[in-house]
Amino acid sequence: MNKVKLASSIARVHADANKRLGRDHWDYEGFSLQWGVQEKYEIIRKVGRGKYSEAFEGIDITCNERRCLKILKPIKKKKIKREIKILQNLAGGPNIIRLYDVVRDSQSKTPALIFECIENDDHKTLYPKLRDFDVRYYMFELLKALEYCHSMGVMHRDLKPHNIMIDHQKRKLRLIDWGLAEFYHPGTKYNVRVASRYWKGPELLVDLQDYDYSLDMWSLGAMLAGLIFQKDPFFRGQDNNDQLIKIARVLGTEELYIYLEKYSLKLNEHHRALTETIPRIPWKKFVTQDNQHLISNDALDLLGKLLRYDHQERLTATEAMEHSYFDPVRVRETKKTGGLMETSDSSETEDWSEMLG
Ligand SMILES: Nc1ncnc2c1ncn2[C@@H]1O[C@H](COP(=O)(O)OP(=O)(O)O)[C@@H](O)[C@H]1O
Ligand SMILES: [Mg+2]
Repeated sequence: MNKVKLASSIARVHADANKRLGRDHWDYEGFSLQWGVQEKYEIIRKVGRGKYSEAFEGIDITCNERRCLKILKPIKKKKIKREIKILQNLAGGPNIIRLYDVVRDSQSKTPALIFECIENDDHKTLYPKLRDFDVRYYMFELLKALEYCHSMGVMHRDLKPHNIMIDHQKRKLRLIDWGLAEFYHPGTKYNVRVASRYWKGPELLVDLQDYDYSLDMWSLGAMLAGLIFQKDPFFRGQDNNDQLIKIARVLGTEELYIYLEKYSLKLNEHHRALTETIPRIPWKKFVTQDNQHLISNDALDLLGKLLRYDHQERLTATEAMEHSYFDPVRVRETKKTGGLMETSDSSETEDWSEMLG
């Protein structure tokens, strides 16, 4: 009898989070939605739109508080329930956008999600202005949200600048848009048509369906690359097939082949460019006059540990937070919270480019 080796993949951490948290936590189809009172809210102005919604700044007239009203386009009830269930489960978690209410129009039945409102600075103008310390700070804030949602058994699956609200004046970051987020159950085959092209992990591009939380760690890595090299987005593919080619032109093909072999995956006919060996480009080659103030050995080391083809090799959110790149951020947090650590945080003002050697 021939033994067929089944290449399957299980998350390295929090694989049993949903088993532990129980059915009430993850069974979004079985939960019944409670609709609030639509008349409590008034729209002030439009603040944004996405593939599945239009967002407005509004006001809760019963308490005079500002709110963000996300009015959903016609989408499947199942998807709406998933987004709401996940938002409710994660409510109160660090840097997770807070959901206050869910309402619907009595006539059109169009549902609207009522959120805390963030005065978002557009990433296209904000990101180029960020200093080295700011990049570390916001990445760390984002990691807090990821560490939390992963520990609660949820993968975000659409991490990108448009889904990260930053109020730079208040130094406040919130992870929004849980519309593609999903509960992780080990062994489940998930849809690879998630995330937005530039931030899609290799697993999605080679059709590996038993992916996990580590998908978000790729997207985070792609964002970090965009931030420190001041190239937004860092991997700019013309379509999904080209996206993998753009990634391989940086990471090289050697490790891609090892990845494919490990999980018994095959390239498709549109990946022909990848049958010839492409060398890996060292991160230092992307350093320029204009971005060197954001570069350090620590930044490049962290980047290399996030942007791995093999999702199992990427740092987890917790591991990433422990990386020395975030030392200056952690030191400052300890000081703020009245910790007794006497470590100098002069690193913030150091010229990191000198350390590149
Ligand atoms: N809480 C919020 N505060 C401020 N702006 C928001 C908020 N939520 C959403 N937005 C804006 O609305 C856009 C669409 O919301 P999002 O949740 O990403 O929906 P979609 O699933 O349609 O992409 C966002 O990219 C952002 O510009
Ligand atoms: Mg969005």
